[in-house]
Amino acid sequence: MKVVMATNNVNKLREAREILAPLGIEVISQREAGAETDPEENGSTFAENAMIKAKAVYDIVHCPVFADDSGICVTALDGRPGVHSARYAPKGEECAKLLAEMEGKTDRRAYFACVVAYMDEQGSGTVSGECHGSIGTEARGTNGFGYDPVFLYGEKTLAELTEDEKNAISHRGKALRQLCEVFRKRYGEDHAEQ
Ligand code: IMP
Repeated sequence: MKVVMATNNVNKLREAREILAPLGIEVISQREAGAETDPEENGSTFAENAMIKAKAVYDIVHCPVFADDSGICVTALDGRPGVHSARYAPKGEECAKLLAEMEGKTDRRAYFACVVAYMDEQGSGTVSGECHGSIGTEARGTNGFGYDPVFLYGEKTLAELTEDEKNAISHRGKALRQLCEVFRKRYGEDHAEQ
């Protein structure tokens, strides 16, 4: 089956395609579906923002849609940047800013959170996933995007993992595998043929 992902983020799109393709779901970008919309993400939670994005695209395409809202929550920063992760620093400067803010802090715990909102003619809902780790003391690795180079999962940063390795343990991977179950229940085991 084909599902529209309500995003203009090519990194999220690439990860979602890799995670959902083996499960029989083809992911179409909102641009490919002809839905040029960029709603204001003015919710106060990941779930609210994910639903805002999913609804904006669903109202245009009227076919199964999902949207991801995600971010990094740092314990020593009282959960910041959290829902504001995309606006924490100019693109490409988020890792340096976070490392500077974490300088001297001994509690390095952090987690990525992802809420995926879905919407189709049967209604809407959310699924979620978290990936727990810590903030390193330097940026390492060239894979992934955003905060991946400073997020340690075990010995490696997420930017040092292959895409498959990241998807197996990531917040987005966990949420999207649940999304697949939702669509499997709604559309049946042979949804790949639809
Ligand atoms: P939004 O969901 O569009 O509001 O953006 C979430 C922001 O959180 C992204 O722009 C990244 O900076 C960050 N983020 C979300 N997921 C990841 C991830 O898997 N790796 C690194 N950064 C992420």
